[in-house]
Amino acid sequence: MKSLLLLVLISVCWADHHSDNYTLNYDRVIHMQAENGPRLLVEAEQAKVFSHRGGNVTLPCKFHRDPRAFGSGIHKIRIKWTKLTSDYLKEVDVFVSMGYHKKSYGGYQGRVFLKRGSDNDASLTITDLTLEDYGRYKCEVIEGLEDGTAVIALELQGVVFPYFPRLGRYHLNFHEAQQACLDQDAVIASFDQLYNAWRAGLDWCNAGWLSDGSVQYPITKPREPCGGQNTVPGIRNYGFWDKDKSRYDVFCFTSNFYGRFYYLIHPTKLTYDEAVQACLNDGAQIAKVGQIFAAWKLLGYDRCDAGWLADGSVRYPISRPRRRCSPTEAAVRFVGFPDKKHKLYGVYCFRAYN
Ligand SMILES: *[C@@H]1O[C@H](CO)[C@@H](O)[C@H](O)[C@H]1NC(C)=O
Ligand SMILES: *[C@@H]1O[C@H](CO)[C@@H](O)[C@H](O)[C@H]1NC(C)=O
Repeated sequence: MKSLLLLVLISVCWADHHSDNYTLNYDRVIHMQAENGPRLLVEAEQAKVFSHRGGNVTLPCKFHRDPRAFGSGIHKIRIKWTKLTSDYLKEVDVFVSMGYHKKSYGGYQGRVFLKRGSDNDASLTITDLTLEDYGRYKCEVIEGLEDGTAVIALELQGVVFPYFPRLGRYHLNFHEAQQACLDQDAVIASFDQLYNAWRAGLDWCNAGWLSDGSVQYPITKPREPCGGQNTVPGIRNYGFWDKDKSRYDVFCFTSNFYGRFYYLIHPTKLTYDEAVQACLNDGAQIAKVGQIFAAWKLLGYDRCDAGWLADGSVRYPISRPRRRCSPTEAAVRFVGFPDKKHKLYGVYCFRAYN
């Protein structure tokens, strides 16, 4: 096979696969495979799509085939969707279709189908999005010996937050860091998610694991203990560390939830155990750290009362900074991990909708 992979800025696509007619299109970057000219082009109309946890999304993908090379039947076309991982050599199967045969894989089963807007449409719809669905997907169309691919990024609306557990700072190896985020209704953040959070102003002077196994931290206001005063703002990168032996904090990512987050109105302050029970008595659960961040960031939740959360920390969310309530910035304020027997705080509860 002398096939040649070309990256072209000016794409040539067949407007209609029943004729030789084609339109010129100057603004897309597409990959095509060519042997004496392209026979199968695959392209995504958008490089990125946005959604949120619980939402439905369609990853766009169209193919254009030269009917002189293939004939008019399209029943032999194979459409394959995979998810790219941070390890570029590894892809996770999502969905495959050939004619009437269709198969979806793993956590995608029952949630993915081809949109089939037209004969040359390979767009994939994913329903009930999860935090893990975030990432880059590859659309591959194969006919005979020809194939073409396009890559589309799925981004989720959400919030990145730094996290360390009751044990204290720098106690998590990579695997424990992943679990710590899951325990707080979140996932370990990717570099891109941390980067977007940094651009939106996140400044945090403790290093945390990211999903690719690197350890980094975001600085918007350079200062002495955080890489130096005369440095430029940016994401400080410690590099890749031993996933079993090295211990850091973690950056978690969460998105919209389907439920109600609230401060429980209760006549007295509570110990941690009383707080857990009070939420249960109210038909709810004590809220997780990811939920207080999602409520604060995505719903503008504001409450100047320190309350227990599931991990034994005490926090309160402030969207409208004011005297005595986080006067200088909108933030989820962290009081600490107090003695669980202290009867000094309220509680935040979460009730999931069914
Ligand atoms: C190509 O398209 C143009 C405009 O749509 C049309 O006038 C022309 O007849 C077409 N040519 C062929 C070969 O189909
Ligand atoms: C997503 O799609 C499913 C299946 O088509 C549908 O039942 C559900 O209501 C949709 N959800 C949203 C949020 O649009």
